[in-house]
Formats: sequence, structure tokens, C-alpha cells
Amino acid sequence: MKPVKVGLLGLGTVGTGVVRIVEGHQNDLQSQTGSPIVIEKILVQNKSKARSIQIDSSKLTEDPYDIVHDPEIDVVVEVMGGIGNTKEYILEALSRGKHVVTANKDLMALHGPEILAKAGENRCDVLYEASVAGGIPIIRTLIEGFSSDRITKIMGIVNGTTNYILTKMSQEGASYSEVLKEAQQLGYAEADPTSDVEGLDAARKMTILSTLGFRTDVALEDVSTKGISAVSSEDIAYAKRLGYELKLLGIATSQDGFISVTVEPTMVKNTHPIASVNGVFNAVYVYGEAVGETMFYGPGAGELPTATSIVADLVAVVKNLRLGINGQHAVGTYKEKKLKTDEQ
Ligand code: NAP
Ligand code: HSE
Repeated sequence: MKPVKVGLLGLGTVGTGVVRIVEGHQNDLQSQTGSPIVIEKILVQNKSKARSIQIDSSKLTEDPYDIVHDPEIDVVVEVMGGIGNTKEYILEALSRGKHVVTANKDLMALHGPEILAKAGENRCDVLYEASVAGGIPIIRTLIEGFSSDRITKIMGIVNGTTNYILTKMSQEGASYSEVLKEAQQLGYAEADPTSDVEGLDAARKMTILSTLGFRTDVALEDVSTKGISAVSSEDIAYAKRLGYELKLLGIATSQDGFISVTVEPTMVKNTHPIASVNGVFNAVYVYGEAVGETMFYGPGAGELPTATSIVADLVAVVKNLRLGINGQHAVGTYKEKKLKTDEQ
């Protein structure tokens, strides 16, 4: 089959991982999809910047429309981050019939319905597995694995940076600001790490998970959010003395027709499996009425773990291309939500 041509928007932590996996696993990918996957063009901010991988410089562009307007590009992989312009590039790509894979939870939490609707109109795929919990395939699991059940609770550690900070503070007595710097150097933190430490990144991910898990339209402003910037070493030591670990937990419940979603530092009994999720690892606990308790664990951020989710989405798009079934999203089938706070 003819090669599937990919336009990559961004060549930072995640984009670099995508190039490494597409190139390094090319034969495995092709044996699953039947088509070579070729990264044809790459958008960067600065073409002259030193890169940690060797890239054919003729592939680099600083103009997003070189990619989204190129009729040869079949799939746009968005790993540049941001909301305003990035949304425009994605909508433009979709309106030209290109499929989209994105790691952008900021965008999907705020504009997911609009982007998915545009994809539906143009019979395009929009897949966003990497937007939540890095290397854990939790989105696919909620949509497909739980399709036969009714989920009533989703709880988890969904931000790697804050879990890395809390773990190092708890286990090594390290200082908050030093560990945050380390998490930035390791490529875990967002471009503006305020969204990690103030809980907004986790709130965006809980918006996505609760929307999918409860099959309703949860909005970011529905999530009550508190981060870890006010957590001190003393708080962590005190919790430990009582037999608890302090974790930034997202908790979403659906009970008696009402939904509640929160993100806040929480004392977790040290015997609970979530208490031993350390470092950049994430865990998502899902309770289904029929299945009972389940839990999914893995690296929540970083170059290769995140890229595995992106490339898995890419494989899904290419398989759909072969079957001619792209863009068959269930748009507009979600039921109306009622929030816990609407009760009063
Ligand atoms: P990053 O390291 O900061 O890389 C961003 C890339 O996009 C860079 O290559 C940059 O170009 C390019 N870029 C940014 N703004 C641009 C613009 N206006 N025009 C052209 N190019 C632009 O970011 P990242 O950590 O890879 O994260 C990318 C996305 O993945 C974000 O949405 C993030 O939330 C999400 N994500 C990240 C992780 C993670 O572990 N890092 C995990 C899951 C999801 P230059 O290289 O020239 O500067
Ligand atoms: N900054 C995010 C985190 C990246 O630390 O979890 C992965 O989404």
C-alpha cells in the first residue's frame, strides 16, 4: 500500500519520541497496518535549534500552513501544545480531510466537542490517547473496554510532575522548587508548569476522563481544583506519621444521576495501592457497577511513554484508512449532566 504521510506539529519532548518510535518500529507498524508511515514535514518554532535526534533539515518548517494545507499530508500529529492558534490549525487540517492525533489535553478539555464535531462533518478521525496519563491506554479502555458497564467512579493520579515532586519530597526530603526544576529538565512539566502544580493539568485530564467514563459532557469549570503549591514538607511528614501518603488525586463520581469531579491534595491510606504510585507514574482506578474495582498503572509523562500512545493512535488511523471507516465517532450521543452542586 502507498505510504501514509504524516505532518508533525512540534518536535519537543513528545515530538522527538514520535519520530524515534515511527522510525525505530517501522517494520512492526507496517506489519500491523499494511502501509509505511512516513513523517513528511515537521513544524518547529526555530529551525536552527540544536536537536537531540538527527533530522533531515529539509523536513523542518516554521509555517504551520506548509503542513495543514499540504494535500499530500494524510494525518496531522499535534504535539506543539497551546490552545488558540493550535485549535485553528487542527480545525483547518480537519476541514481539508486530514486525520488528527493530539496529546493536547488543554485543547480537548476546552474545545473537544467542537473539534470532534468538525471531525464528524469531515469524516475524519481525532484521537487523543496521549492527552491523559501518558503511556497508559486509559482513553481507549474507557471507551471500548467499559462499553458494557456503567462507571460510577474514576479516581487517580493523572499528573506526573506533581507526583514526582510529592514523591521526592516524601522519600528524600527534597525541596519543592528543586524537584520542580528536575521535572522540567526531564520533560515532564508543561511549558508553563503552573498548570501542573496548581492542579489545572489534572483538572483538564479529569474533564476528559469523566466525560468519556460517564458518557456525558463534563466541562472544565465543573471541576473543583486545588494544586500542591501550598503543600509543605511538614504536611507530608505529618500525613506519613498518621500512616498516609499525600497525593494529588482526581476524583470523579456519578451517583443517583449526579456528577462530582474534584482535584486536590488528598491523604491516601498507605495500604491503598494508589499510595504506592511514585515518581512520574500515574494510576487510574475505575469502578464499574458490573466489573467492580479495576486499576491501570504506568508512566504518566515523558518522551517515549507519551509517544507510544501517539503512535498507537496513528496506527489506529492507518488501520481505519485501510478499512475506509475513519471518522465514525459517536458525536452528540452524550446525556445531559447534573452536577452534585445542582442538588441544592
Ligand atoms: P515541548 O517540549 O515544549 O515541545 C513543543 C514543540 O512545539 C517544540 O518543538 C516547539 O518548537 C514547537 N512549537 C511550540 N509552539 C510553536 C509554534 N507556535 N510554532 C511552531 N512550533 C511550535 O512540549 P512537549 O512536552 O513535547 O509537549 C507537547 C504537547 O504534548 C503539549 O500539549 C503537552 O501538554 C502534551 N503532553 C506532554 C507530555 C510530556 O510528557 N511532555 C505528556 C503528555 C502530553 P521548537 O523545538 O523550535 O522550540
Ligand atoms: N505535565 C504533564 C504531567 C505531562 O506532568 O503529567 C503529561 O500529561
